[in-house]
Amino acid sequence: MNVFYNKIDLNHCLETLKSQKHSLGFVPTMGALHQGHLSLIKKGLQNNDFVAVSIFVNPTQFDNKEDLIKYPRTLENDVELLKTVSKNKVFVYAPTVEDIYGDNIKSTHFSYDGLEHEMEGRFRDGHFDGVGTIVKRLFEIIKPDNAYFGEKDFQQLMIVKKLAEKYKLPVNVVGCVIHREKDGLAMSSRNVRLKPAYRTASPFIYKTLIEAKAKFKNESTNKVTKWVTAQFEKHNLLELEYFIIADTETLKTAQRKSNKKTYRAFIAVYADDIRLIDNIALN
Ligand code: PAJ
Repeated sequence: MNVFYNKIDLNHCLETLKSQKHSLGFVPTMGALHQGHLSLIKKGLQNNDFVAVSIFVNPTQFDNKEDLIKYPRTLENDVELLKTVSKNKVFVYAPTVEDIYGDNIKSTHFSYDGLEHEMEGRFRDGHFDGVGTIVKRLFEIIKPDNAYFGEKDFQQLMIVKKLAEKYKLPVNVVGCVIHREKDGLAMSSRNVRLKPAYRTASPFIYKTLIEAKAKFKNESTNKVTKWVTAQFEKHNLLELEYFIIADTETLKTAQRKSNKKTYRAFIAVYADDIRLIDNIALN
């Protein structure tokens, strides 16, 4: 499997693919790969001749320095895992911070028509500026035909779609369903850091989302939100940061339900010092 550590080496490969008119899918990641990431790559392989996977822990999207330092970096394992999907149709771009940012590790400010002010934007200062900066840069470097993002980070997916639209980036952004552990916990690179008691407790998040979805059929958004809040108040390990029922298009908190709209519930929970997010379609 080809692993490129800088733009120059990567470009040789990309030029060859383009000259042979191969289609290219792209899956940006921060590594510590799991089956959730692999599901995006498999989807990419169904619709493209080759798939580029970037592995880069992007410093500008972390509002918490500790989280950045502790973020798992497991390149060798990641490459082994990728080989189980395909050895010759998948290649890796694992740049250094310098290859991406030079000596100017800063993000650009983006406006995504208000999507950035909701949920994660409220709780993680500057996060979506960092995401926009790296994703735009990676799109410009890799120039993929299709790029795959998980609904696990639904707000990020919407923001990347908006970024591509606003900047007329020539890439088709594709959303992919959330991949879960057997017990329902959404797969995440952070899960490996959960202490056993917290790992055992964390399927409670998805279980609560499913129950909230059932309640949403007959109850107001306010009542469902209060019910979820109460469930977490009773829980002795998991701490709720937010639970929000939002309009799927604008991501604004829904006050009243309308038959013409679709809604999603979004949740962020602390399991000790590990922050877990999840979401579910409600209608
Ligand atoms: P990362 O958290 O590594 O996730 C990479 C991609 O995998 C994202 O599109 C994410 O939504 C998707 N993903 C993660 N867990 C998933 C799951 N359980 N099911 C389905 N998809 C899942 O998201 C990032 O990295 C970064 O913000 C990035 C876009 C790479 C920019 O730095």
